[in-house]
Amino acid sequence: MSKRFTLTAALPYTNGPLHIGHLAGVYVPADIYARYLRIQGHDVAFICGSDEHGVPITIKAKKEGVSPQDIVDRYHKIIKDSFNEFGISFDNYSRTSATIHHETASAFFKTLHQKGAFLEETTDQLYDAEAQQFLADRFVVGTCPKCGHTESYGDQCEACGTSHNATDLIQPKSAISGHTPELKSTKHWYLPLDQHQEFLKSWIGDEHKEDWKPNVYGQCMSWINDGLRPRAVTRDLDWGIPVPVDGGEGKVLYVWFDAPIGYISSTKEWAKAQGKDWAPYWKDKETTLLHFIGKDNIVFHCIIFPAMLKAEGSYILPKNVPANEFLNLEGQKLSTSKNWAVWLPDYLKDFPNQQDVLRYVLTATAPETKDNDFTWKDFQARNNNELVAIYGNFINRVLVLTHKYYGGEIPEATTLTETDKAALEQLQGTPKSLALSLDRFRFREASQVLMNLARAGNKYLADEEPWKVIKTNPERVQNIMHTALQIAAGLSVLSEPFLPFTAKKLQQMLRLNEALKHVQNPSGWQAISKGERLLPSGHSIDKPSLLFTKIEDHQIQAQLDRLEASKTANVQQTTVVPQKPNIPFEDFSKMDLRIGTIVAAEKMPKTKKLLVLKVDIGTEVRTIVSGIAENYAPEAVVGQKVTVLCNLKPRALRGVESQGMILMARANDGQLVFVQPDEAHPTPSGMPIS
Ligand code: 2FM
Ligand code: ZN
Repeated sequence: MSKRFTLTAALPYTNGPLHIGHLAGVYVPADIYARYLRIQGHDVAFICGSDEHGVPITIKAKKEGVSPQDIVDRYHKIIKDSFNEFGISFDNYSRTSATIHHETASAFFKTLHQKGAFLEETTDQLYDAEAQQFLADRFVVGTCPKCGHTESYGDQCEACGTSHNATDLIQPKSAISGHTPELKSTKHWYLPLDQHQEFLKSWIGDEHKEDWKPNVYGQCMSWINDGLRPRAVTRDLDWGIPVPVDGGEGKVLYVWFDAPIGYISSTKEWAKAQGKDWAPYWKDKETTLLHFIGKDNIVFHCIIFPAMLKAEGSYILPKNVPANEFLNLEGQKLSTSKNWAVWLPDYLKDFPNQQDVLRYVLTATAPETKDNDFTWKDFQARNNNELVAIYGNFINRVLVLTHKYYGGEIPEATTLTETDKAALEQLQGTPKSLALSLDRFRFREASQVLMNLARAGNKYLADEEPWKVIKTNPERVQNIMHTALQIAAGLSVLSEPFLPFTAKKLQQMLRLNEALKHVQNPSGWQAISKGERLLPSGHSIDKPSLLFTKIEDHQIQAQLDRLEASKTANVQQTTVVPQKPNIPFEDFSKMDLRIGTIVAAEKMPKTKKLLVLKVDIGTEVRTIVSGIAENYAPEAVVGQKVTVLCNLKPRALRGVESQGMILMARANDGQLVFVQPDEAHPTPSGMPIS
């Protein structure tokens, strides 16, 4: 029976291109699920769009000296193109700067306001007097009150995932000026999550204990059990959706208030273009609403957005939120600022027309239950050993032999042996096996069910050896080829959610559309599960071409070299290290900084970190104790030119008097490095720095 589904995929922030982590965590699984539902004839609205508000976009705009609108226009296009190129089959891809979204989010806010669903409070908020700006979200960094991470943002800690208010941070610092902010009073609207606590506890705790993934359920219950608190849903900013009620002048909706409403506005935009009614997709209890997200979005989709929908009163709540964990790359966390990523536009330049390879590898190694690692070697192995050697090899053999023996016509099956029947039964059982995995959002498992069918086809052909039997028993070969062709056709249908480009190419080679006119069931998927043969005898197929190509070692090495270069490259530092408060010039001039030369070095006994250095500062040789032993062996530093703070008050370290300090910086690879004069212009020891 056809059912209605609304599938949402997290709206990506529009301040950079997409990378493999986005595809693996959210968009590929969501797309597989959407295609899987459509193939079975369900009514699906697969919805997404660009998340164009929020502080990171304004920070990027400030840095580049352009407007936030310029930033979102640029990346909306790049992101939308990537989705198209990777076959992410959204029914609608909108953007939160669209008028329909501004109207929808404003109306939603007004409804909650009229219903008295907000608390209105004037409180002291963090304010940067120098920048003359209130600080919230990413404009402020400080220590997370929950886990102690020292670079937590104002709205969320990336280390432990906790969402909090900026005033909760310990030792907050402005990300704009580096100043310690002051408190200044301002009025805001709060969603009293504490008032929804009991409802959320029973909705998630009782109703979804069994069907939500343990990682999602566990996180939600931990937040709920810690006690929920009111969350501000407005901000003192000038980029966003204006607060549409009295007193809201100069304020905008919090990005996490408006973004999830973006799912609703995108659905409206789609329905309008289709001449449909949007409301059943969000308000009919028979509709299944699913949110596909990454783990950092769990609190917003499982706690805050449901509380908003519940408070509004006319909406359904998500049936499931299949959030994934994070994907790492070559053992390290993906990082935009460190350029430790595989960007989708770059991938396509290096591997043109190989979108399905990446889709397959990311599915086969999806971070479903724990963080997982993407490595280029594994990517190569899965392509060469699975897609090329199993799937591609099977299809190519079947199609080439069909042309060789029968001029491209499907031969008639006369007498099927038990082996043939077993192969066809495996094909018939595959839709059910896929459904068992996919209905539980086990995409990894499902991708292996699919590959196992190709593997079985390949083995069947290798065991039956039609190329040998043809000499002695041509009738037997007819039966073998008929069977193998049904498996090939089955693969072309069942692969569609996972490998949409390959499936289409294969279906075209098999002229499947024409063949399907003869099947009884409404779709190829159903015909397979009923045991119908997809390719009738006498049906003609086209000439084959290769579905996958081998990926060579040098292609993989090029990717590894690029990553290595990212490690050492002088990439722009984008993490905000707050600036310390300004000092007058007189304070600076109190420091006596000079170039020195290390003339001797030894390890401080019984310590891991300390080296005792002798440093020639022109006028004398000083003893300086420096904490660099984990980064430099003593013999490696002798002869190095360094920068020395000469008039730092001497102090004893482990009984040795240290008479100054060496200046160090941290490189991109984490190594401590000397702050040194330019080697091209030798600078003598003792030269003052001014
Ligand atoms: O984490 C993110 O990239 C957010 N832009 C996701 C928003 S999802 C939704 F609520 F819009
Ligand atoms: Zn934390």
